[in-house]
Amino acid sequence: MSRLSSQIAESAEKVNRFIEKVVDLEGEPELLYRAARHIIDAGGKRLRPFLVLKSCRLVGGREEDAMPTAAALELLHTFTLLHDDIMDQDEKRRGVPTVHNQWGVPIAIVAGDLLFAKVYEAITKFTDPKHVAPERILQVLKEISEATTNICEGQTRDMMFESKETVSENEYFRMIQAKTAALFKVSARCGGILGGAKKSQVDRLGEFGRYAGIAFQVIDDVLGLIADEKVLKKPVGSDIREGKRTLIVVHALENASKNQRKTILETLGNQAASPEQIRETVEMINSLGAIDHAKEVAEKYIVRAREALAGFPASEDREDLISLSDLIFARQH
Ligand code: IPE
Ligand code: IPE
Ligand code: MG
Ligand code: MG
Repeated sequence: MSRLSSQIAESAEKVNRFIEKVVDLEGEPELLYRAARHIIDAGGKRLRPFLVLKSCRLVGGREEDAMPTAAALELLHTFTLLHDDIMDQDEKRRGVPTVHNQWGVPIAIVAGDLLFAKVYEAITKFTDPKHVAPERILQVLKEISEATTNICEGQTRDMMFESKETVSENEYFRMIQAKTAALFKVSARCGGILGGAKKSQVDRLGEFGRYAGIAFQVIDDVLGLIADEKVLKKPVGSDIREGKRTLIVVHALENASKNQRKTILETLGNQAASPEQIRETVEMINSLGAIDHAKEVAEKYIVRAREALAGFPASEDREDLISLSDLIFARQH
């Protein structure tokens, strides 16, 4: 295991313990709490809490001061996954049935809402104001509210694009900055804020998170087309069936011949498309260079992420964040 993977595993372990022992997602009706814990218990990479804790350390803060927010942002992430899987009609997440698949849409909605409420409970109840100035806690709450607003906006654009004739690369980037990069950005910023960083340091961390988050979503879209489903632990090809305008699809449509465009549009958003038809469409998209293009774009954002950290003095923590951005590019799940 690389130094980074073992650190991520160690931080995931602490975050899991905090969620289990401190946030304590137990209560009645049991059905609600079981549904809310389902996807958390199924695992996941826990990258956002890692980013919170690492950013806090980078600016010389204490990990325990950032732990409630680290856990809270994983709860926020999980909440968005529950609702996203309803919106995308996906049946699997983290290798297990999605919540709406197992218990129905109404339970998945309310379990998501519960997790969202627990975000604010975790931070306000468990961040120690003797160690973190109340203004900083307030700032964290404010920034998380803003990021959640962004996620709602991005998720709406993502859905609106499904029925839009043409979507440009710019529109795609605007959408993923909101639905995905906003959470990476706020994770890094909150780590800095809770670690006592100056505004300029918080801003730099936020830029790192934002660029890494954009690359993360571009790679996620690549994996959603060509990954091994057993490794990815969520459906491969469902973006095509749902008609998602990923960077790959946008680029392919821009570069397709009239006939190719017609074939792609016939499969895109076609709920009745067979796995074979989806496979052939992915092959056509790939032959148009769209997957290579997406990887190149992701790599550029990783470089920008690294550059955003240039203003921090060299340290092991800074190296670890750079390795995290490399991992985001190279990941297989
Ligand atoms: C999935 O995020 C949602 C996206 C933003 C693409 P992750 O790939 O971090 O999911 P988990 O938490 O590891 O399951
Ligand atoms: C990622 O959504 C963003 C959020 C969940 C808010 P996607 O729909 O692109 O991600 P996956 O592929 O379902 O994880
Ligand atoms: Mg989805
Ligand atoms: Mg989605």
